[in-house]
Amino acid sequence: MAAIFQGKKILLGVTGGIAAYKAVEVLRLMVTAGAQVQVVMTAGACQFVTPLTFQALSGEPVRTELFGPSAEPLEHISLGQAVDAIVIAPATANCLGKMAAGIADDLLSTIILAATRPILVCPAMNVKMYENPVVQENVAKLRQRGFQVLEPSAGEMACGAYGSGRLPEPADIVAAAAWLLTPQDLAGQRLLVSAGPTYEDLDPVRFLTNRSTGKMGYAVAAMARRRGAEVTLVSGPTALSTPWGVSRHLVRTALEMQGVLQDLFPQCDVLIMSAAVSDYRPAGLAAQKIKRSEAEMLVKLTHNPDIVAGLGARRQHHQVLVGFAAETQDLLAHAAAKLQRKGLDLIVANDVTAPDAGFAVDTNRVTILDRQGGVEVLPLLSKDEVADRLLDRVVTLLAERRG
Ligand code: CTP
Repeated sequence: MAAIFQGKKILLGVTGGIAAYKAVEVLRLMVTAGAQVQVVMTAGACQFVTPLTFQALSGEPVRTELFGPSAEPLEHISLGQAVDAIVIAPATANCLGKMAAGIADDLLSTIILAATRPILVCPAMNVKMYENPVVQENVAKLRQRGFQVLEPSAGEMACGAYGSGRLPEPADIVAAAAWLLTPQDLAGQRLLVSAGPTYEDLDPVRFLTNRSTGKMGYAVAAMARRRGAEVTLVSGPTALSTPWGVSRHLVRTALEMQGVLQDLFPQCDVLIMSAAVSDYRPAGLAAQKIKRSEAEMLVKLTHNPDIVAGLGARRQHHQVLVGFAAETQDLLAHAAAKLQRKGLDLIVANDVTAPDAGFAVDTNRVTILDRQGGVEVLPLLSKDEVADRLLDRVVTLLAERRG
């Protein structure tokens, strides 16, 4: 995420709803990610949070006035053109109405009317207000004109009502804003990504698993979505939440993962198989908890299918297949053998013994191997950056297939 915002200029418009306090966190996340953020507040927003709060976090004077001593000449035109993207969070019903109708009666609405940069609008209001047909018409009009509108989330609201109208979580707003800043070089492509471990049950309370947390696969899914792909994530059990804009199927065992992937594979253009699939499962599942006994216990294991090899065998010509190889020794030799054996186009070789790479950490150190014998050694990178570099290779392969 950080790389996308580094050095980027964002205009954050804050309008007068109770969710204005969440915009403070949106600002903090963007600044932490390296963006330079110019905050513009409406008079209503200033009733909920003071400009000083935003100013302290952004390090920039907050703009609030179209006229008056603090207004800079012509900034109502220049501000919306000098930034890389505009984010309005929260956007009240009044703000949506003004943008849809082309009304410019304060600094923010005037900036929007003159803006030439991509705009993300994050509505937040009482559920009845949001469901009102006039508000829905305004949202539809804005979408038609190329505004990105982030649907409010459902839940309990400040007014006590329950329904759809809450401002999405700040991290989701920032993820959606990252989307505005990212080249859409995977637009029109359908990516299927597997992630996480599998759980292979032994009895009702015990299972076999591995140390995968799903971080690498979730980073690939999130980054592919940001680059415009339609992304489906098939995930083993993890603590991670669904990345913004991604559709997720949760599975538990290797056999469940295989079933879901077999159903979805024919419709995808790219499969990225980053799940750490268990190669074995207990030969039998005990119906009751296995009790302690004096005798030693031997657990018989049976093979799980090699999911990606099975899918590779029935791939269509245009489909791109990417695997991961988690290794503790002879990294490149093992990875190269898996690339051939499983019929992959690329394999990401991962030495999981390094403390800063592999399972459960936010960084990774990988080497990407291809079918032509190409070896791309990447330095230590965040998992987001690894995902980005891997997707660069996928974009190239897709372009080659198109001829
Ligand atoms: N994989 C799979 N089905 C399995 C095991 C692995 O589809 N039953 C996929 C993984 O998702 C990964 C690639 O195959 O993309 C390599 O996985 P890895 O665990 O490194 O290799 P294995 O084939 O399991 O070989 P080994 O355990 O001997 O290293």
